[in-house]
Amino acid sequence: MADNTMFDLTGRAAVVTGAAGGIGSAVAAALAAAGAVVLVTDVDESAAAKAADQISQSGGKADSMVLDVSDHDSADAAMSRAAALGDGAVHIVVNNAGVTAPAMFADTTNDSMRRMLDIHLMGAFNCAQAALPYMPTDGAGRIINVTSSAGITGTLGQVNYSAAKAGIIGLTKSLARELARKSILVNAIAPLAATPMTETIRTDERFAPTMLNRIPLRRWAEPSEIAGAFVFLASDAASFITGQVLPVDGGMVM
Ligand SMILES: NC(=O)c1ccc[n+]([C@@H]2O[C@H](COP(=O)([O-])OP(=O)(O)OC[C@H]3O[C@@H](n4cnc5c(N)ncnc54)[C@H](O)[C@@H]3O)[C@@H](O)[C@H]2O)c1
Repeated sequence: MADNTMFDLTGRAAVVTGAAGGIGSAVAAALAAAGAVVLVTDVDESAAAKAADQISQSGGKADSMVLDVSDHDSADAAMSRAAALGDGAVHIVVNNAGVTAPAMFADTTNDSMRRMLDIHLMGAFNCAQAALPYMPTDGAGRIINVTSSAGITGTLGQVNYSAAKAGIIGLTKSLARELARKSILVNAIAPLAATPMTETIRTDERFAPTMLNRIPLRRWAEPSEIAGAFVFLASDAASFITGQVLPVDGGMVM
């Protein structure tokens, strides 16, 4: 029989990036519900504060802070703050912040290519590196990156985003090998959910039916349905899993 304490995150400090809304705020709420103290971070300071307030009102422990993941100094400051919440340790880092800038390859500018790499790939790099000095080496340390089916299979009109998300998979696997000696586990999740990021593809009749046909479960998930996989990977239940990419996407990638 499953032992529920396997999923208990009491005493662990977590940082979630891009947690003002969408998948990030659902993950922050789920980690807090499992007992973690959560630093809710985002470029949108007031929305991050609101998300943290909602967690507190539901009985969880949370604080918020502005964090632009593309800025290493900003990541350093957030990890220092999270460590203060976690009695000196940052146990869980969720690298979730992201944006898209769809364009066909011929129209993809240098700036949009660099922006995708800066926010997604450099963002995960900055936050993981900033957190490392604070991460415990007793097996509780977790880095959970957010990639995408776009990084696994590629997507038409998203060379910039797909390249950045594929880079995150390489970062995840190499970091998992390197940090295994510190018993820090590094995994990635490739989600699919109804969020502001996917609004056009869910509602525009040029894309919506085709996209739905690609999902065997024939529906979009709410962000809260994605969050459980993050709690699992953050918990003792996942103590022997590292370097993996877990699609949570209704069977789209298999
Ligand atoms: N929704 C999906 O179906 C889906 C599919 C595949 C991958 N993803 C990935 O999941 C993650 C969350 O996406 P979402 O759908 O919740 O999107 P969302 O747009 O709802 O949320 C993204 C959040 O990231 C924040 N953000 C943007 N730039 C930032 C920066 N530089 N620093 C810090 N925060 C920043 C935004 O303010 C926003 O709150 C992203 O990495 C996205 O690429 C989502």
